[in-house]
Amino acid sequence: MKPRPTVWRCQECGFVSPKPGTCPDCKRASGALMPLVEERQATDRAPHRPDTLRTRPAPLRDITVEQGDRVTTRIGELDRVLGGGVVRGSLVLIGGDPGIGKSTLLLQAARALAEAAPPVLYVTAEESTAQVKLRADRLGVATDGLLLWVETDLAAVEAEIDTVKPRALVVDSIQTVFLPGLESAPGSVTQVRECAARLMTIAKGRGIATFLVGHVTKDGAIAGPRVLEHLVDTVLYFEGDAHQGYRILRAVKNRFGSTNEIGVFQMSTAGLHEVTNPSGLFLAERSHDAPGSVIVSSLEGTRPVLLELQALVTRASFGTVRRTVLGADYNRVCLLLAVLEKRAGLPLGMQDVFVNVAGGARITEPAADLGVVLAAASSFTDRAVPGDLLVVGEVGLTGEVRAVTALDARLKEAAALGFRRAIVPAGNVAESRALPLPTKGVATIHEAMRLVFD
Ligand code: TYD
Ligand code: MG
Repeated sequence: MKPRPTVWRCQECGFVSPKPGTCPDCKRASGALMPLVEERQATDRAPHRPDTLRTRPAPLRDITVEQGDRVTTRIGELDRVLGGGVVRGSLVLIGGDPGIGKSTLLLQAARALAEAAPPVLYVTAEESTAQVKLRADRLGVATDGLLLWVETDLAAVEAEIDTVKPRALVVDSIQTVFLPGLESAPGSVTQVRECAARLMTIAKGRGIATFLVGHVTKDGAIAGPRVLEHLVDTVLYFEGDAHQGYRILRAVKNRFGSTNEIGVFQMSTAGLHEVTNPSGLFLAERSHDAPGSVIVSSLEGTRPVLLELQALVTRASFGTVRRTVLGADYNRVCLLLAVLEKRAGLPLGMQDVFVNVAGGARITEPAADLGVVLAAASSFTDRAVPGDLLVVGEVGLTGEVRAVTALDARLKEAAALGFRRAIVPAGNVAESRALPLPTKGVATIHEAMRLVFD
């Protein structure tokens, strides 16, 4: 291969220039002067695509998809987020804050994969053998088919893969492995991108299900710029507060399944446990029949999750009123409070309003609008919304209650958790038949408030 000339690259956005200087893209975007870093290309790089991967164009109808290409990790929540198990030859990136449980999750998944399709190679470039062994003991992982290796040199890993012939590979983490042929430091854009590209070739060429751990930087992107996200097949983020017991695994990209799917886990002393009933978790400590508390349904992927929405409306003690929102969109809540004031005549102008989603959950859906309105009205009037009532509906600016998607699934979830009635958009009731729960349809927030408080 001919040696490629030296280039200068921005470590923030990946901009490449033939000359040194500062990055014009970053300057335009944020005014920051990011120095371009010299980058000499390796001369002995293996071509990205080996001959085994070369194919010819073929008619679509002649292409067959092999069934059974998926392997289950025996962690139901992870399997569902992956789209029904991990696909052979796919590259899965798991991102998340340090300490959130990425290594724990992958070690648990590696166990099941090693039992179903040994061997599995777990390459750790961050921890010592002893550290991983201690964790494995804690989790009760003792599988012969699971091979552990402390190694940071990806070229060595590549060589070893030919001997070990693993069916699945875990690289923990992509920021700490490096290719010795490149001059940049481990964790730099070039290294991370080249390492991931090399692993992609390995995964696709040999049909190995490959998991990469990626650390999230302060601004939330994996490896600074989002270089890896386009490259890999699947991007999962592991979220949750370190001091709260539960974790949420979210698919943000998936070439083999749906995104927006979530998996819920709880961290215990013996590792991560699946939470198959997240509504129960979020509703565990709720206070029944307390003013300001309303149960709403939020669709997470295909799964409806019930959440407790709390509002506290108190008279403002100083000249300026406060609006504080946790777990929901601030602007949306302000909009709904304005609708409540204008259309239902509630004088909220001189009131502080605090809105919170219990358990640290997040509501991203407009279907919780009516819940926000009723919670605020309930706290303002100091009259409780019944504890066995589910509230569903989007609210428009004229105070109308608009139809939502997947009403049946939401009501079924509520019925399973012991709810006995629901207030839903009139538009949904008109179209639907037998519902899993006794429901009342409402067309406006006025009607909803009359139903609940009169
Ligand atoms: P870890 O998987 O190492 O996180 P990451 O790889 O994302 O950095 O583990 C995160 C935390 O979980 C760590 O602080 C210890 C805790 N933990 C438990 O509480 N129970 C367990 O069984 C294990 C293995 C870890
Ligand atoms: Mg780790």
